[in-house]
Amino acid sequence: MRGLTGRIALVTGAGAGVGEAVARRLAEEGARVVLADRDGDAAAQVAATLPNGAVGVACDVASPDDVTAAVEAAAALGEGTIHIVVCIAGNSRPAMLKNLDEETFASVVDVHLGGTYRTVRSALAHLPDDGTGRIITTTSAAGQSGTIGQANYAAAKAGIIGFTKSCAKELARRSITANAVAPLAATAMTEKVRTDEKLAKLTLARIPLGRFAEPSEVAGTFAFLASDDAAYMTGQVLAVDGGTVI
Ligand SMILES: NC(=O)c1ccc[n+]([C@@H]2O[C@H](COP(=O)([O-])OP(=O)(O)OC[C@H]3O[C@@H](n4cnc5c(N)ncnc54)[C@H](O)[C@@H]3O)[C@@H](O)[C@H]2O)c1
Repeated sequence: MRGLTGRIALVTGAGAGVGEAVARRLAEEGARVVLADRDGDAAAQVAATLPNGAVGVACDVASPDDVTAAVEAAAALGEGTIHIVVCIAGNSRPAMLKNLDEETFASVVDVHLGGTYRTVRSALAHLPDDGTGRIITTTSAAGQSGTIGQANYAAAKAGIIGFTKSCAKELARRSITANAVAPLAATAMTEKVRTDEKLAKLTLARIPLGRFAEPSEVAGTFAFLASDDAAYMTGQVLAVDGGTVI
């Protein structure tokens, strides 16, 4: 894979988990990374450990003003250009359908799908038209196959696939690619299904490779999609999930 030297990347949800690993990998490949996270301290702490002058900013992707400010911070570093936009920020608020109230449904959709929409839309004017512009979003096995107890999350993640494919079609004329990654990794988000004995047994039985990846193991796919080697790939969903969705 060719490197990312000279590229500017904005990564949301980069304060922990998959986002942190992706920000680290992009920086190691040579990119200058702006790490945006609701937890601004975490973003700044991770940024301080990365090469190439990475910067951490506080940004709740549910807030249009926060997203605009994070995008402007990245654009300022890149003298107006942001090459790589990676939308990873997300949370989960599980509830069985009968208990899934309006607010719990809407808030998860707003963070995942709304956050992806507003980050991409806000960065659009800064993406270059020379074949280096990249949009990378994060979906999930839940968005591809559905899940029990998280219809809000699954709906948002399925929506992200439709949004990403639409970006791919609409922005192809500008040579900007848009792809989604469906990861599975040992992070805070998956702590319960990894540590609760009964849930862990059920979950591992659904993963052909029989284990959760470390976040660093899924980060390479994001870096590949950001690279020149993926310039002719757009509108795709790449699952890095141990074979969960086949
Ligand atoms: N871990 C997995 O197995 C898995 C599987 C499928 C999809 N995903 C997706 O990968 C992404 C990262 O998940 P993770 O497992 O690393 O979770 P995580 O909880 O470890 O990290 C999520 C990060 O996003 C930040 N965040 C949460 N809400 C935010 C908001 N409104 N604005 C900005 N930042 C916010 C958190 O502060 C945290 O730093 C999510 O979109 C998640 O849905 C993860």
